Amino acid sequence: MYTVLSHSPLKDEHEALVIGVFEDEKKPVDFVKELDDLLDGHITELIYEEQISGKKNKLSKLFPFGKVKAKRLYFIGLGKKKDFSYEKAREAFATGVKQLNKDKTKQASFVLSTFSAVRLEEEQFAHSLAEAVSLACYKFDDYKEKTNEVEKKLETINVYSSEEKDEIEAGLHAGQAYGEGTNLARTLVNTPGNLMTPTDLAAQAEEIAKRYGMEYEVLEREDMEKLGMGALLAVAQGTDQPPKMIVLKYRGQEKWENVLSFVGKGLTFDAGGISIKPAANMHEMKMDMGGSAAVLGAMEVIGRLKPNVNVLAVIPSSENLLNGSALKPGDVITSMAGKTIEVRNTDAEGRLILADGITYAKQLGANYIVDIATLTGAVLVALGTCTTGAVTNNEEFMEDVLLSANEVGELMWRLPNFEPYKELLKTSDVADLNNSPGRNAGSITAGLFLGEFAGDTPWVHLDIAGTAWSDSETALSPKGASGVMVRTLATLARHFEK
Ligand code: BES
Ligand code: MN
Ligand code: ZN
Repeated sequence: MYTVLSHSPLKDEHEALVIGVFEDEKKPVDFVKELDDLLDGHITELIYEEQISGKKNKLSKLFPFGKVKAKRLYFIGLGKKKDFSYEKAREAFATGVKQLNKDKTKQASFVLSTFSAVRLEEEQFAHSLAEAVSLACYKFDDYKEKTNEVEKKLETINVYSSEEKDEIEAGLHAGQAYGEGTNLARTLVNTPGNLMTPTDLAAQAEEIAKRYGMEYEVLEREDMEKLGMGALLAVAQGTDQPPKMIVLKYRGQEKWENVLSFVGKGLTFDAGGISIKPAANMHEMKMDMGGSAAVLGAMEVIGRLKPNVNVLAVIPSSENLLNGSALKPGDVITSMAGKTIEVRNTDAEGRLILADGITYAKQLGANYIVDIATLTGAVLVALGTCTTGAVTNNEEFMEDVLLSANEVGELMWRLPNFEPYKELLKTSDVADLNNSPGRNAGSITAGLFLGEFAGDTPWVHLDIAGTAWSDSETALSPKGASGVMVRTLATLARHFEK
């Protein structure tokens, strides 16, 4: 799909030639100057008249009618040069790609040098371009009777850059991996619950494993019984769908040590159990496997980019429904770790299945654990829909995760882990832990509940209940599943390389 070329774009034919323009660059320079000369100074004039605008994400389309060997020219406004960043580049590219698709463009050429301002490496811009192309072209294949012809999308992209070709190609490859990994997560989450059961989720994981030669293992109910996974089994009592404990191992080093582990909540539908949820918007709870989707999306990226790091993915998966054998409020269950839990609220099921997921990850050799889950409604109250909440037992590891999130532009904020919050978990009269100690500090207590199972292993918990789903569209993401945290987890893994 991508070809990197170092000669002048003016030598080739293009369906669409895409050029970046900065708001504070009133006179054409470099490539735009060449273009301006060919077009008898009209570009200068159009910039002066603000018909070609450098304002952020403004798009101007030109038909050069044969004077340049391009059917259409697209100018994308990039805002002020000093404010330009990787994040802004992603948005600008995505805005361009949306328009190219609207215009049914099949071939587009990007003049990369016109997008690079402060010498942020062009490799990074290549990364952001390919990532934006994948993300902006994403559409979930729905189940509507198709009356329209299949949408035409960009097929061929030429990237013009005089920088080191290998580096540009590496950037494009990585960006595409990030984009496609995120899209994979989106699709898993957008798929309705009846078509994305724990069994389906396991099949998806197996496909990734096969594609990239990773080890794959799935525990069935009998295996879980042998291992004493009482918490996962308790949640699974209430449904006819068999639970799964899904494991992927990516061996990037000879020895299985220094293992970075991702534990993702794979609750394929959350009705709340006996503590049933209200009917309104319950359908959105098909998204409750968003954590597992982020983990699988990250494994897709890792499979493509092959960093020299060991990664273990563990996904406890079940539905949370309510049949005659369902878990009841007041029941006491025994987790795999041996800790007993009084289930005060069956809707606090995520922490139950993750407790066994974390314990199993440790048994499989996890040295660092990131658990990721659509865990609490409370995180929406605290942080809204743009920021992922984090809880940790280890400052240094938290810093690594925050840096990775920051690098890819995913917003994340740390919540406190102070002792008094931990005490709230010890409020059961009959068991070690209470799974639902009340409304106050709901996201913190949920996180710290999991911390009880992480123990001394460096651990970060990410609550994506607010960020995994979006009710509005942007250039980079349609409504629905966002695929949040795929890029952060993948970046964390790549930084783990020793
Ligand atoms: N899956 C939900 C959390 C959730 C809420 C995800 C909104 C996505 C959007 C979780 O299992 C849940 O029900 N949590 C309860 C916990 C409570 C009973 C302690 C909640 O947040 O209300
Ligand atoms: Mn729930
Ligand atoms: Zn849930």
